[in-house]
Amino acid sequence: MSIEVVTTIADMRALVDSVRGASRSVGLVPTMGYLHAGHRSLVERAAAECDHVIVSVFVNPLQFGPGEDLERYPRDLAGDTATAAAGGAGTVFHPTASEMYPEGEPLTRVIVSKVTEPLCGRFRPGHFDGVTTVVAKLLAICDPDRAYFGRKDAQQLAAVTRMAADLNFRARIVACPTLREADGLAMSSRNAYMSPADRAAAPAIFAALEATAAIVVAGERETSVVEAKLSGELAGRPRLDVEYAQARDARTLAHPDTLSGEVLLAVAARCGPARLIDNVVIDLNGPRPAVDAGEIKGEP
Ligand code: PAJ
Repeated sequence: MSIEVVTTIADMRALVDSVRGASRSVGLVPTMGYLHAGHRSLVERAAAECDHVIVSVFVNPLQFGPGEDLERYPRDLAGDTATAAAGGAGTVFHPTASEMYPEGEPLTRVIVSKVTEPLCGRFRPGHFDGVTTVVAKLLAICDPDRAYFGRKDAQQLAAVTRMAADLNFRARIVACPTLREADGLAMSSRNAYMSPADRAAAPAIFAALEATAAIVVAGERETSVVEAKLSGELAGRPRLDVEYAQARDARTLAHPDTLSGEVLLAVAARCGPARLIDNVVIDLNGPRPAVDAGEIKGEP
């Protein structure tokens, strides 16, 4: 299937109108580009469930703080277009910053409270406001039936899911598993920043999450004990500078004393020039705890 790159909002709306006019469903995969196998898995899921898939590629300035990596964020539109096409997308939406923000900083922002406050919210002030604002704009422009997000960014997923419900967007928000390299490291566009030595140290994050999930599966429910285990597993690991290592409710991000329902184990750590985040979710609702740690897909 041929793929079209659309750069203006007017053209994007016209395309969506024609797809909808033919009673075909629209799937949206929002990204910041430099697509890897994790992104591609979202595109493939969207292509399996929707008639026409749009992959947006937009490095959103609004979600980067001062001193963050906006300027050096990796970009490769030709590669991204090829990956999107191979995954089954029909359109890449690639607007410029001035197309998305013609007046510069928008006066209107979409702010989701509570779920955006802990974890990354404490270390990246304003970040999630930038994310939910641009996702709201993309949903308004593309008006998809479904929009696909990775569990890798668990707090982003929680914020976008809540926003879509609170603001009555048409789109159903679909959560997709985290794809990992052969050694367990969660795939990320930012992994490209790491030196070989950083890269060798980074899989310790997933190892710590797995070791901690095991004690929850074995019956531990005290949040403080689980968090002590997670911090202990990370302590002394070379090259990792841990920002947080916490256990929370996966949907509300509340921090109860005793864990129940869907439990999120989440870590953020700096590893050389990269800031890495990762998580696993343990579902305690069924007869036996079920761990969602994503899928190993990378080549060894
Ligand atoms: P980006 O980091 O490019 O990620 C785009 C989507 O891919 C997100 O939903 C993210 O969770 C998902 N993703 C990233 N790594 C993944 C992995 N290893 N396995 C599965 N899915 C993965 O997240 C953003 O862009 C932006 O904040 C965005 C939502 C596009 C708003 O600007």
